[in-house]
Amino acid sequence: MVKEKKLRRTPDAVYKIDIWLFKFLGLFSNPQQILKKIPLKEGITVVDYGSGIGHYTLPIAEFVGLKGKVFAVDIQPLAIKTVKEKAAKHGLTNVESILIDSYDTEIPDSSVDIVLLIDTLHLIEDCDVLFQEIHRILKQDGIIFMDKGHLKMSRAKEIVESTELFTIVQCWSRDMLVAPKTLRSNP
Ligand SMILES: C[S@@+](CC[C@H](N)C(=O)[O-])C[C@H]1O[C@@H](n2cnc3c(N)ncnc32)[C@H](O)[C@@H]1O
Repeated sequence: MVKEKKLRRTPDAVYKIDIWLFKFLGLFSNPQQILKKIPLKEGITVVDYGSGIGHYTLPIAEFVGLKGKVFAVDIQPLAIKTVKEKAAKHGLTNVESILIDSYDTEIPDSSVDIVLLIDTLHLIEDCDVLFQEIHRILKQDGIIFMDKGHLKMSRAKEIVESTELFTIVQCWSRDMLVAPKTLRSNP
């Protein structure tokens, strides 16, 4: 199947440099500003796709609480290791880290309320396959919160619209909320 096509990883030595960069940039960003735009609720299930070292995973895990769950999904072993260590350090037992090597997350069908795709879109080689996978795991009334990554906003919107699976429901200058189209056809 296409979604099982192997993804290319960055060597650990290079990703270690990325981690330092994420930590440095993290000093200047406040995840709470982004979280305000996401319809988070206690008890829901969230997937942080391209979680990196968990800049958003951990505050979201705190927000959704023990009745909720956050899946941190990444292709880099060091990202997953870092998220696991941070979650353990903060006693966040509702974080499950998933190291993927293809677009198949193995998360059950229609089980997720919110998928986050932050600063990651520009790294995705096959957006159609990724959005098919996100469509599979999202509940019918689920939603994606995503930003444009390093792309132009017009290109990010074009990518979403070209999947024909999703519709943009709210848009800001760098990010948007995106819902599965089935929500519209079966209100
Ligand atoms: C720039 S970081 C962003 C991390 C986090 N979302 C944030 O905003 O702090 C992008 C992450 O996406 C991951 N990534 C790249 N391609 C991916 C893919 N196809 N599937 C899952 N993760 C991917 C990278 O390993 C990296 O950790």
